[in-house]
Amino acid sequence: MGLIVCLAWTGPSALHAEQPAAAPPAPTLLVAVDRRPVLNLDGEWHSILDPYENGLDNGSKSYWNDTELPAGSNKLTEYDFSKSPTIKVPGDWNTQSPALMNYEGGFWYERHFQYQPQAGRRAFVDIGAANYRSRVWVNGQLLCMHEGGYTQFDCEATKAVRAGDNSMVIFVDSTRLADGVPTLKTDWFNYGGLTRDVSLVTVPANFIDDFDLHLDRATRSVIEGYVHVEGAQAGTPVTVDLPDAKLHAEGVTDADGRAAFRIPASGLSLWSPENPKLYRVVLKAGDDTLTDEMGFRTVEVSGSEILLNGKPIVLHGVSIHAEAPFRSGRVDSDQEVATLLGWVKDLGANYMRLAHYPHDERMTRAADKMGILVWSEVPVYWAVEFGREDVFAKSEQQLHEEIRRDRDKASVILWSVANETPNNPARTAFLTRSAEFVHREDPTRLVTAALLVHGDLKTKYIDDPLGKALDVIGFNEYIGWYEGTPETADTVEWKVAYDKPLITSEFGGGAKAGLHGAIDQRWTEEYQAEIYRHQIGMLNKIPQLRGTTPWILMDFRSPLRELPGIQDGFNRKGLISDQGKKKAAFFVLQKAYKENGLGHAE
Ligand code: GCU
Repeated sequence: MGLIVCLAWTGPSALHAEQPAAAPPAPTLLVAVDRRPVLNLDGEWHSILDPYENGLDNGSKSYWNDTELPAGSNKLTEYDFSKSPTIKVPGDWNTQSPALMNYEGGFWYERHFQYQPQAGRRAFVDIGAANYRSRVWVNGQLLCMHEGGYTQFDCEATKAVRAGDNSMVIFVDSTRLADGVPTLKTDWFNYGGLTRDVSLVTVPANFIDDFDLHLDRATRSVIEGYVHVEGAQAGTPVTVDLPDAKLHAEGVTDADGRAAFRIPASGLSLWSPENPKLYRVVLKAGDDTLTDEMGFRTVEVSGSEILLNGKPIVLHGVSIHAEAPFRSGRVDSDQEVATLLGWVKDLGANYMRLAHYPHDERMTRAADKMGILVWSEVPVYWAVEFGREDVFAKSEQQLHEEIRRDRDKASVILWSVANETPNNPARTAFLTRSAEFVHREDPTRLVTAALLVHGDLKTKYIDDPLGKALDVIGFNEYIGWYEGTPETADTVEWKVAYDKPLITSEFGGGAKAGLHGAIDQRWTEEYQAEIYRHQIGMLNKIPQLRGTTPWILMDFRSPLRELPGIQDGFNRKGLISDQGKKKAAFFVLQKAYKENGLGHAE
């Protein structure tokens, strides 16, 4: 099960990047890598800008050092990593040098590392994320290629590593593609590079590459699921232990390397925002041991209710981009995660929407610890090419990688398959398949999407046909900003075609922090706060409203936002500025959340 079909290159750089003669093995996927002892390869890497993909000039031949030259010609080496400038990993390249701020294209990373191969053990290069397409070489061997900028992937290096000094070269191309996921236009900045941790993971020949352990919904007193052991013979013993709960279970693998488990577990302390209890979970199979920390809870829908551990819950949330506070750029440290989630807690929120792509695993690990429920999403955003099978395969791969990584996170309760996509048959068929895929891949969580609504300033309709395929319906509306005035919300009537839980996945308006003025003066904090006051009143009139994630926690960089003196390259709908200044609207929402005044549960 570990191997995934890797997608052929498409789009503008096809000129130079035809599918290499011997396509490298498809990347596999390891889980809970942050819980394994690894050789961390973060730090300063040598880097070379390559807008013309000169280093890829001959496809399968790796970078520049082995081009066959006609007899008698001079071999000119016209690059030298060791003398090239260094750049920090993890990190987007854009915010590390003014010269790279708006660079999109090919970029080379190179570093050396010391390693001792061990008999009977396998080595994988683990990459938390590389935006957007990447190729990985170790000691000149092309290990794998990957497409998708926000999900983890692993490339087997067992045959490439050697004792002593090794070199790793990664080519990352951030070029946006029409047939990409996301596609060409997004209201967020296309930060390129190795934006998350890179490490070398060594595991036994047979190792645990995937598992699913969750509480059964029926009784909430049985842990059920499986442990998958890559390369294992049928009959391989596997054990699961929860030492703090004195639980021990034994199983054996089947012909596919999967050991099924049903573990009586009546006395568990169930995970919830009020009680984010995590248990050590120790998995053993042969020579491999994997220890994770997990919470156990159930989430389901009943009519228009969302039930957490069998009880109705209201999701007081906020949307978040992975934009680093103060310095801007991709979030890439525990400190930045702590700052952002600290603000979520300040807001009185118990929930957050990670928009519009899977965020760093640090975010979901922290959410597990802090008791913040999570909506996680793949960047099927706006006008993706819904009529193309290869585009569907890309979105499915990203869903698979996202679910595989965060299946063990109690905080994650919602998988979103899309945001603000056009209501047409090709799109609805595409996303209905996505929803079915997610339900198969993870039947323990809920499937949703952020839908557009239609109507006029009197009546709004939530009747998108995609709603049929979803467990929970998210809808985005900007009454008071893109249409009407803040007061318009007082008289809007909502017509909802579904008896399902509703979440307002986006509402809000822009404000420049520190800009004050009349209550009807756009871009002032007063105007934004007024939007929130009237929104809270309006949304509370929608009977099945079970949650909200206003747009957005913090101002974020966007190439679509260039109003001088106000936006200056930032979307200013944050409740907090990119410099950490809380705007007036922050306190309006905080009051509503602290007084339980937004959204209801029966
Ligand atoms: C859209 C979209 C966001 C965008 C926001 C805005 O709804 O989903 O990505 O940033 O609106 O216009 O600010």
